[in-house]
Amino acid sequence: MKVAVFGAGTMGSGIAQVFAAKGHTALMYASSVASAQRHKDKLAASLNKKVAKGKMTQEDCDALLSRVLVEEFEAAADADLVIECVAEKMETKKELLGRLDAICKDSAIFASNTSSLSITEIGAGLKHPMVGMHFFNPVPAMKLVEVIAGANTPDELVEYIKNLSVEIGKTPVVVNEAPGFVVNKILIPYCNEGVCVLHEGVASAEDIDIAMQLGCNHPMGPLHLGDLIGWDIVLNIMDVLYNETHDSKYRANVLIRKMVRAGKLGIKSGEGFFNYKK
Ligand code: 3HC
Repeated sequence: MKVAVFGAGTMGSGIAQVFAAKGHTALMYASSVASAQRHKDKLAASLNKKVAKGKMTQEDCDALLSRVLVEEFEAAADADLVIECVAEKMETKKELLGRLDAICKDSAIFASNTSSLSITEIGAGLKHPMVGMHFFNPVPAMKLVEVIAGANTPDELVEYIKNLSVEIGKTPVVVNEAPGFVVNKILIPYCNEGVCVLHEGVASAEDIDIAMQLGCNHPMGPLHLGDLIGWDIVLNIMDVLYNETHDSKYRANVLIRKMVRAGKLGIKSGEGFFNYKK
């Protein structure tokens, strides 16, 4: 199968990797061909580390990378599946999908990796039906895919994505459209609450994370987790949850907004509530 992945950030690169690992061809798209190539080089560097650690053979690494292609936009015309994971802005997604709608073959399936936006709204006006295929960070390690049915998503499409998720080694859950779906409706307010506890001076960032790791057996605490997800993403999802429901329990803590304005987004920027600069 040929999968065109639009957006080559943390999620897009991971999605391209899991499809290529299962023998599919993954086209990797970013803002330009040069930028997509830089993301492919980053992916190659991370896979080469796995080879150096003896966790992957050189042969598997080379084969995987040979199936990740950086091409011009037009190469997506004969893709069987398009997955968009561009910025969480409705206009950005709609503009891209509108262009793809015009060039992609009729049988192509359009999926969105949106973390909280409406699948129905993303797909409105397109001739290709739209489904949600929501992966988790880090994509190669996280088993779950939320398969999201929008108001106009055909049942067969939900079934197809469910089966495809199993085929690429993931475990799907089918979710009806709702702000944040299942995971982010629960997880993102949890990260926000971790920041509230810090902001109220209840405990230090280190101790909040130790408490949740050792008290609840979570692999990482809420502040490290937000650093992994990116506080810009956390803030964006909190704002979607709040704007869609007007429920004050989804109000983002002001400290998150301040961190985002300061560029302290977490691991990807080198600093969040913890420091990742080498
Ligand atoms: N990229 C790719 N693979 C990675 C990775 C990364 N950044 N980080 C870890 N892994 C892989 C490792 O290669 C390893 O796989 P292997 O055994 O096949 O080699 C496996 O994950 C375990 O890694 P490690 O032993 O090095 O590290 P840990 O045991 O500390 O696990 C973790 C790291 C998997 C990140 C773990 O801490 C964890 O599960 N954290 C919680 C992550 C989580 O909750 N993610 C969901 C975020 S919400 C989301 O994504 C939704 C979005 O819409 C916001």
